[in-house]
Amino acid sequence: MKHIFQQGKDENAPVLLLLHGTGGTERDLLPLAGRIAPDSSLLSVRGNVLENGMPRFFRRLAEGVFDEEDLVLRTAELNAYLEEAAVQYAFRRDNIVAIGYSNGANIAGSLLFHYPDVLRGAILHHPMVPIRGVELPDLSDIPIFIGAGNNDPISSPHETIELESTLRSAGAEVSIHWESAGHQLTQSEVDAAAAWYRNHI
Ligand code: MLT
Repeated sequence: MKHIFQQGKDENAPVLLLLHGTGGTERDLLPLAGRIAPDSSLLSVRGNVLENGMPRFFRRLAEGVFDEEDLVLRTAELNAYLEEAAVQYAFRRDNIVAIGYSNGANIAGSLLFHYPDVLRGAILHHPMVPIRGVELPDLSDIPIFIGAGNNDPISSPHETIELESTLRSAGAEVSIHWESAGHQLTQSEVDAAAAWYRNHI
């Protein structure tokens, strides 16, 4: 997959897997990662799907309506890529924390929904429920931060709470941070994610 890998100063710190939103690239979340864990290595990946020229991590049929077959396939593809990248860049496969925004948060959520031990933790900015009707793996003690907007028309508060409860039922330790905002990623949400990271990872 098209990506950027940056070796961090601290080899034992988790590797941050950065996953952009629709229309973004692997460069988008680099500054944000620097604010959350400046000494960590970064693996920032570009989604393999194009929607009218905009990179995404999986196809959708309409706004908020996911192509589930493609979602499952692209999730497997990303999971396999993580194995490959861990070998190529010599980092521990069990030491990855994902940071995703919007479509990137949704593919990170899908990794957690489909594979055990896939991520050590996750920061999900404005995620949705990636898929329904699947049995989640054991997510015991996996720390997950959800950043949400109480006026978000895409990732609605109702869906955010459904996601929280689904992840909690699988054992994850979920914290939600609410902003009085919409779908955009605000500075104060990033600050909250950084504070959460210091306490939970
Ligand atoms: C998605 O398609 O993953 C969500 O609707 C968010 C978006 O990318 O707009």
